[in-house]
Amino acid sequence: MDTRSELQATVNAMVQPGKGLLAADESGPTIAKRFKTIGLESTEENRRAYRNLLLTTPGLGEFVSGVILYEETLGQKADDGTPFPQVAAANGIVPGIKVDLGKVPLALAPGDEITEGLDGLAKRFVDYKRQGARFAKWRAVYNITSSLPSRLAIEANADSLARYAAISQAAGIVPIVEPEVLMDGDHTIERCAEVTEAVLHEVFHALHRHRVVLEHIVLKPSMVLPGSEHQQPSSTAHIAAATVRVLKRTVPSSVPGLVFLSGGQSPEEATVNLSAMNRLGALPWNLSFSYGRALQEPPLQAWRGQPGNVKEAQQALLKRARLNGAAALGKYDATMEKD
Ligand code: 13P
Repeated sequence: MDTRSELQATVNAMVQPGKGLLAADESGPTIAKRFKTIGLESTEENRRAYRNLLLTTPGLGEFVSGVILYEETLGQKADDGTPFPQVAAANGIVPGIKVDLGKVPLALAPGDEITEGLDGLAKRFVDYKRQGARFAKWRAVYNITSSLPSRLAIEANADSLARYAAISQAAGIVPIVEPEVLMDGDHTIERCAEVTEAVLHEVFHALHRHRVVLEHIVLKPSMVLPGSEHQQPSSTAHIAAATVRVLKRTVPSSVPGLVFLSGGQSPEEATVNLSAMNRLGALPWNLSFSYGRALQEPPLQAWRGQPGNVKEAQQALLKRARLNGAAALGKYDATMEKD
């Protein structure tokens, strides 16, 4: 298959009505933090057992079209000895890989951050592809204050995201482009909208300059929300309208799919907000989910590291996947939580 057909086939498999992605690509320090909440040590075997639980959930492929894995997981095997990427693929779930190496302070720009990992990326893709990865993810983060993010941070992160996306496409790997405007802080929803619009505008400008084919990317945006310490909560209707307004202003209709991150929202909030957006009428792109915490919190709490709880944990994951699948069609309502 030539590269273009390969990218198209992967996009088609990832972007499907009523399906979204499972983000299970927590880095070492992040998964240790999650395990700490259930009093579990982060050993290689515990991490493998947990990812085994997630990926072998019966029926997951009905609502989840792709899974983002961490490098370590890509090389690990399920209980029956099958490599995880093959386990996913056998359930109709496209395996992908987080390729950024995390964020560091942006030099000479106090409070701003930049994501690393471009050096040697083309070479790393050769191995990832051999192991079964068909798409990739790179996350850029933006902190909000009254003066942040700076123009410099907005431009530098856009450029890195675009360079990553170009290197991915050249390798026949579909890039998930993730500019995450963080929820931390006491800012208003209007301030979040202003920052998100500036960030997305710059990201698409950079993608254009770097010759990235928009039909062959997936965008992973954050929702437009008030800061987590802001006193005034916003209604679901307000969040949905503000988010879609910003996306319509900045994201070309040639982008096939948008999959939100959950970014610290509760599982129910992330679901109800997605559903509300999909009820706003015809949108130019498929609008779905790529949740980490909002999909994994219930199964993680049900599991608690006990083999005897695996079934219950898988049911908790399948339930959230099913409800988010409904939300991706605008068909979620809160009474479905009780089923
Ligand atoms: P959350 O849904 O927990 O924000 O994680 C999604 C993700 O992949 C962040 O990079």
